Amino acid sequence: MRLSLQDLNAITACPLCKAPMSVTEGQDATCHGCGETYRWCAGTWDLIPSSIRRTSILWTSWDQLQANGVVSYEQDPERNLAVGDREDCALFSRFCGFDGLVLDVGCGPQACPAYFRFRSDRTRFVGIDPLIRASGSQYLQIRALSEFLPFRDHTFDHVVFATSLDHIIEPVAALREARRVCRTCGEIDIWNGEKRKGAPPTVAGHEWYERLEKPLSAEDVFHLRRLRSTDVNVIFAEAGLGLAEEQVRRVDEYRTNFFYRLRVLEPPRPTRRPPENPPETPTLSC
Ligand SMILES: C[S@@+](CC[C@H](N)C(=O)[O-])C[C@H]1O[C@@H](n2cnc3c(N)ncnc32)[C@H](O)[C@@H]1O
Ligand SMILES: [Zn+2]
Repeated sequence: MRLSLQDLNAITACPLCKAPMSVTEGQDATCHGCGETYRWCAGTWDLIPSSIRRTSILWTSWDQLQANGVVSYEQDPERNLAVGDREDCALFSRFCGFDGLVLDVGCGPQACPAYFRFRSDRTRFVGIDPLIRASGSQYLQIRALSEFLPFRDHTFDHVVFATSLDHIIEPVAALREARRVCRTCGEIDIWNGEKRKGAPPTVAGHEWYERLEKPLSAEDVFHLRRLRSTDVNVIFAEAGLGLAEEQVRRVDEYRTNFFYRLRVLEPPRPTRRPPENPPETPTLSC
């Protein structure tokens, strides 16, 4: 399940300029393309570029939502993270049918997400999340942002977003990055939990929950904006992705889980130095 350092070094790239970049355990990494440096922080690499500007109101709100998220993951992990023997996680795991190299975007801080359960023997997971710190996980986790994935083009067989897409400020940018790092004929597997207006919060009533602060621009204490099933098709189209399969799983009168499979059909445009006479894009069927 765990990717070796040698295999990791065959797929890592600078999250900013996308030049191939190698990493060594216990050491900071430097990109020879753009000069950006990335810190080793007691257990894994912090591949969030320090030079990106995160000063807008949206990012300030996101910082508060992330801090709220950490409180909920520590106080009530079973209801806020994919941990334990949960039926919804098992269903999503079966839906994904993991095989090959899998990137989990917004994997969460837990040692092993419950939806990794069903997989072929040759499956290897890599997870990225801004909340990863000292990693005591059962698989390789890296601190990174979905909008700046630290991997080379056409790398993964599956790219997963499990209840993470609605925590990301720019879901279209994140999906474009997912499409870039996904192999042609690979798939992007998404789990989005939809909650209808008027739904009582599942964690209300707890002292820790009542103390969380909701940023003015946010929809609730964990989300800037929840994604509805009507929104996601627009977002997929904007990211240049087509829907291959959808499963709808009703939880209760207020909540429904949607599982989406997006197939990456055409090779994305190269991110660096396009050839002067690019070959014609072949027509592919997966
Ligand atoms: C509800 S948790 C889901 C975690 C895990 N996938 C699970 O199901 O247990 C949402 C996750 O999205 C992550 N996240 C938020 N913004 C992100 C971003 N820009 N890039 C990557 N992950 C992000 C959060 O840190 C958090 O771990
Ligand atoms: Zn670089």
